[in-house]
Amino acid sequence: MATQERPRLDPATARQVIDPSSYAEWDGLLDTFDRLRAETPVAWVEPEDGGVHPPFWLVTRYDDVMRMSKDNATFLNNPHTVVFSLTEGIEFAKAFSGGSEHMVASLVTFDAPIHMKYRKLTQEWFMPKNLRTVEDEIRAIAHAAVDRLLAGGGEADFVKTVAAPYPLHVVMQILGVPEEDEPRMLMLTQQMFGGSDEDLNQSGMKDLPPEAITQLVAGAVKDFEAYFAKLTAERRASPTADVASTIANAVIDGEPLNDRDMMGYYIILAAAGHDTTSASTAGAMLALARDPEQWARVRADRSLLPGIVEEAIRWTTPVQHFMRTAAEDTEVGGQPIAKGDWLMMNYVAANHDPAHFENPRRFDAARSPNRHLAFGAGAHQCLGLHLARLEMRILFETLLDRIETVELAGEPARSRSTFVGGLKTLPLRFTPA
Ligand code: HEM
Repeated sequence: MATQERPRLDPATARQVIDPSSYAEWDGLLDTFDRLRAETPVAWVEPEDGGVHPPFWLVTRYDDVMRMSKDNATFLNNPHTVVFSLTEGIEFAKAFSGGSEHMVASLVTFDAPIHMKYRKLTQEWFMPKNLRTVEDEIRAIAHAAVDRLLAGGGEADFVKTVAAPYPLHVVMQILGVPEEDEPRMLMLTQQMFGGSDEDLNQSGMKDLPPEAITQLVAGAVKDFEAYFAKLTAERRASPTADVASTIANAVIDGEPLNDRDMMGYYIILAAAGHDTTSASTAGAMLALARDPEQWARVRADRSLLPGIVEEAIRWTTPVQHFMRTAAEDTEVGGQPIAKGDWLMMNYVAANHDPAHFENPRRFDAARSPNRHLAFGAGAHQCLGLHLARLEMRILFETLLDRIETVELAGEPARSRSTFVGGLKTLPLRFTPA
C-alpha cells in the first residue's frame, strides 16, 4: 500500500502522542483523543524525519481496540516490540538480545501456540480461588502500609508512602523475594528496561554512553539470572505455595522450563505487577480525596467499594497502550492495514470513548456496565487482574477502617511515560479513625 493513502497524523499531534510529557498533561491528551476518535480513529503516525521511531497506526476507538485485542491470529505480539519504543531503543534491544526487538522473551512477547502453554502454567494461581489463600498476607502488607501513612502525623504523599510500595511488597512476596532484596529487584527491573527514554531517567542511566548502558543492562540480566537460579533451586528442593514454586516446578511438553524462559516469567510478573496497581490505587485515592462525601458514604457502606475499584482502574488506565503487528493484510475500522504494520491500541483513548462511557472524564463509582479495556482483552488479557482488584479492595478496606477523613493537601502530579503511567505524587491530609 502506498504511504500517501494512509491518513497521516499532523506532525504536532503525532509528537504529542509519542511524547512522554503529554501523558503528564492528561486533559490535553484526552482532548486530542476525542478529536481523533471523531475525525481519524485509525491514524498513521510517521515521524517527519523518518527516523525517530518506526511508523505505526494509532487506534483510538473502543470497538476497534476491543476487536484487535480479541483477534490474536491477525494482530500479533511478535515480532515487533509490544511497547512503543524509539528506533534507538529497538536497536538497543536487538543488539542486546541478539536480534529480537524484545529485551526479554515472556508471556507478552509470545503468540499462539506457545503463549497459551506458558500462560496456563500460572493461570490457576492467579484465579480468585487460589488468591483467597494469600488474602491474609496481603492484608498484613496493607496494614503495614497504612501504619506508614499514619506515622506521617496527618499529612503524607500517598504515592510514596502507600501506593508505590504496597503493590511492590505484594508482588515480591508472591514471587518469594524477601523484603531486604526488594530494592535490588526494583533497581534490576529499572536497569533492564532502561532502554527507553523515560525509564533511562528513572534508573539514572540517561547520561551514560551506550557501551556503559549495554554493560549495565547485561550485568542486570546476569544478576537476575543468578538471583532466580538460587530461588529456583530452593523451590525445587522444597516447594511452597508461592508462584515462584509454580514456575520453578513447571513442565511444558514434558520438559522443565529452561533458565531463560523461567527468568522471563519472573521478570514479567515482577515488572507487570507493581507500577500498574500503584497507579490505579493512587487514582482511586485521588477520586475519593476530592469527594469527602463519597469517602464517608463508602466508609458506611462497603458494598460501594468494588464499583470504586473498577472505576478507578478505567479512569486511570495505568497501562496506556500495547502494540500489535498485523499478521496479514487486513482492516481496522474500515482502514486498510498492510501485513507487517505496527499498531498502537491506545487504552486511554478507548476507555474514554463516549460511545461506551457516558461522560467518560467523570469518576462515576456507580458506572454500570463498566466494561473497560484497562486490562486488555483476548488471549493476553491481564493475568493479574483478579490480584490487582483484590489488592485494591483489601487496601481500601484497611484505609476506610483506619482513616476517618481525607482531603487533598496539594496538587497531585502525573508521571511522564507513554507506557505505564499515573500519579507520581498525591499530597494528602487525613484524620485517623
Ligand atoms: C498483561 C494491565 C496488574 C500481570 C496486561 C495487559 C494489560 C494489563 C493492559 C495486556 C493485555 C492485552 O494485551 O490484552 C494491568 C493493569 C493492572 C495490572 C491496569 C493494575 C491495575 C497486574 C498484576 C500482575 C499482572 C498485579 C501480576 C502480578 C500481567 C501479565 C500480563 C499482563 C503476566 C501478560 C499476560 C499475557 O500476555 O498473557 N496487564 N495489569 N498485571 N499483566 Fe497486568
